Amino acid sequence: PETGCLSIIVLGASGDLAKKKTFPALFNLYRQGFLQPNEVHIFGYARTKISDEDLRWCICGYLAPGRGASAEHSEGVLEFLQLIKYVCGSYDTEEGFRSLEKIISEHEVAKNSAEGSSRRLFYLALPPSVYPSVCKMIKDCCTNKSDLGGWTRIVVEKPFGKDLASAEELSSQIGELFDEAQIYRIDHYLGKELVQNLLVLRFANRFFLPLWNRDNIDNVQIVFREDFGTEGRGGYFDEYGIIRDIIQNHLLQVLCLVAMEKPVSLKSEHIRDEKVKVLQSVVPIKDEEVVLGQYEGYTDDSTVPDNSNTPTLATMILRIHNERWEGVPFILKAGKALNSRKAEIRVQFKDVPGDIFRCQKQGRNEFVIRLQPSEAIYMKLMVKQPGLEMSTVQSELDLSYGQRYQGVVIPEAYERLILDTIRGDQQHFVRRDELKAAWEIFTPLLHRIDNGEFKPIPYKQGSGGPVEADELSERAGYVQTHGY
Ligand code: BG6
Repeated sequence: PETGCLSIIVLGASGDLAKKKTFPALFNLYRQGFLQPNEVHIFGYARTKISDEDLRWCICGYLAPGRGASAEHSEGVLEFLQLIKYVCGSYDTEEGFRSLEKIISEHEVAKNSAEGSSRRLFYLALPPSVYPSVCKMIKDCCTNKSDLGGWTRIVVEKPFGKDLASAEELSSQIGELFDEAQIYRIDHYLGKELVQNLLVLRFANRFFLPLWNRDNIDNVQIVFREDFGTEGRGGYFDEYGIIRDIIQNHLLQVLCLVAMEKPVSLKSEHIRDEKVKVLQSVVPIKDEEVVLGQYEGYTDDSTVPDNSNTPTLATMILRIHNERWEGVPFILKAGKALNSRKAEIRVQFKDVPGDIFRCQKQGRNEFVIRLQPSEAIYMKLMVKQPGLEMSTVQSELDLSYGQRYQGVVIPEAYERLILDTIRGDQQHFVRRDELKAAWEIFTPLLHRIDNGEFKPIPYKQGSGGPVEADELSERAGYVQTHGY
């Protein structure tokens, strides 16, 4: 591992994302020993005029005990908070960034960077509208200029644009300032334990190799459900909608990992090359294979216009035109304010030919990966009903993480992704061509929705969503199974 001073600069330090995700993830890395107090310094930067102490105070409440005894926890929190300094400045003038540079270099000198290289990680917990100006300021005022090597890396959060053209414009603006190897586009679903497990499941198990194709798989469902609405984020959400918020990024990334071919190796570029090929093989989405919904009461939020056409739910079929997947529908479903919170992948197999038990009506073989809550991998299969009769029943081979890995703490997505950034591993980050291909898939549909050509169907909060969405999955071939 590299040594030398590590400066982590969180821009937008007083905002929600920084408080709820970035600082807690840094704290978790710190208490597990991944951030060494003799090497690391953390700087918060924002426009608000506050002191170091004010920032520490507002972060402190989000550093939940989670692991370890409480006395140790409080001690850890205090030590961690002492590593944080605050710098106040605007996002489009040099003044603040010059002060930031000054304080970073002072700490680098104090931490004796000569022993190693100086590393600078800029985390943009900011709205994308300020990315170009902030990146320019970082480039002009704060990039690591040490002769001793080291690096400067930039972490950015979605939304990366609103459609193909705006995303490409943003990519070009940032791309003129930093190399692709310095840019880490976060999609936090790529940091989830079971999303990371997909490569292992698919390519380290003989079971799946011969089955994972159009000859055996009938349909694949990738589902995201939330049991709460936009909760104070109505203004943001209304501009984006469920397709831009969840499907174009989180669900599509999962689809890539389910559908891609085996990469040449585990190198980031080899994995991302295969993901791009999947995206480029997706055929244009048909209007009749899309159902949109909006929960009743969505427009009660004062920041949402009364006549909003924004979908809070979408079910759609994506089709991949290649040798492995021709004819297999990938059903993507995402919705807010539903009756449960769940994210899962369901791979449903075809019926058994020549079914001598006549049991197919009881359900098909299904391989399910539950990303959350309660991570699990299970397989639904037919077995003989225990007893004297020769009858069949659907049952499960079940690997529930809570039981199988008792006491093992599953890291938060942000924790892993920040650690990957420090280590320079881009495997779980979205590459520029990947982003472009993702926007190419959805932009025509999004433009039609934005133009009011598509109306969302109203559904009740806390319900299962509009029946039209379930009918679409059934039309695509999904057979509802019961039990699990
Ligand atoms: C975010 C979306 O990217 O993901 C939110 O903007 C959504 O709308 C969240 O609630 C869901 O993340 P998770 O990890 O709770 O499934």
